[in-house]
Amino acid sequence: MFDQLDALKLEALGAIEGATDEGALRELEVHYLGRKGAITAVLKGMGSVPKEDRPKIGQHVNVLRNAVEGAISSRRVALETARIQALCADPTFDATLPSPPTHVGALHPVNSVTAHIEDVFRAMGFYLLDYPEVETEWHNFEALNVPADHPARDMQDTFWLKSGHLLRTQTSPGQIRAMKTFEAPFRAIVPGKVFRYERIDASHEHTFHQVEGIMIERDLSVANLIYSMKTLLTAIFEREVTIRLRPGYFPFVEPGFELDIQCQVCVGDGCSVCKRSGWVELLPCGMVHPKVLEHGGLDPDEWSGWAFGLGLSRLVMMKYRVEDIRHLMSGDLRFVSQFRQG
Ligand code: DAH
Repeated sequence: MFDQLDALKLEALGAIEGATDEGALRELEVHYLGRKGAITAVLKGMGSVPKEDRPKIGQHVNVLRNAVEGAISSRRVALETARIQALCADPTFDATLPSPPTHVGALHPVNSVTAHIEDVFRAMGFYLLDYPEVETEWHNFEALNVPADHPARDMQDTFWLKSGHLLRTQTSPGQIRAMKTFEAPFRAIVPGKVFRYERIDASHEHTFHQVEGIMIERDLSVANLIYSMKTLLTAIFEREVTIRLRPGYFPFVEPGFELDIQCQVCVGDGCSVCKRSGWVELLPCGMVHPKVLEHGGLDPDEWSGWAFGLGLSRLVMMKYRVEDIRHLMSGDLRFVSQFRQG
């Protein structure tokens, strides 16, 4: 086996040194390192090698692979340099001519707003948690104090999978996942896509974006919640925002609130964005329910928490005055290209 590997190394290094253009080099790269390449084939054959020899051979193969990778990249640099030098030597080549126009893409507004929110929260000591969109019924409902016969299940029509799993209808299961991932006290945000079996219109989509936020500490109160929400929203909007809380019902928080911000467009005077009320409903929030703390593995006598669910799609629509939510997931480049920077 060792002889075979050494022979392979000699052969590969010789071939790489002999490659005369970048295309041939690419072919060699695939031949030796590709998924169906010679070195991968050796690794696949390891099963037939006695167990005690495997570490040694494995190490040998790694050395071989590194050597081949190194040889390929230095040969590539050499070939590229030679090509550029040849080009420059051509008397008809004018390096001062402008280059052909390049197409400049644009970040999708959901992505740029998510990135901004992540920056704001990271600077305030929040962890960022990401986890699969296919969720268990337990995390999405049960653990959030929504048992199977609970009427609150009707608030969120669900896409069920044959396996019994579901597409998460909200980022709130992220609260449970955060409690199980991080050691208390902690603060975390969970941005992500959520899915609902909705009839689609200008303000309803089957796929949209939310950011869940959770903070776990020993003695949190509603006063902490209000202060934190105001600080966070001031950072997100990059200006002082006025907020108000109304009672709201969500089974996983007690007490629960609907938080409104003063309309950013008319500053409270009343306009079409806020439907003349001067306020825009932005984020539901509340104090984490003791049962939810328990399901997250925390003792409610020792720990307390607040949580919020920010409707990211709505925030994007408000920020950029997008009048129809369907634009966001349309994949239409004419929509995205309007957000090109500079
Ligand atoms: N998950 C809820 C929804 O999608 C929103 C929500 C409400 C999240 C209250 C929260 C909360 O964290 O405290 O409708």
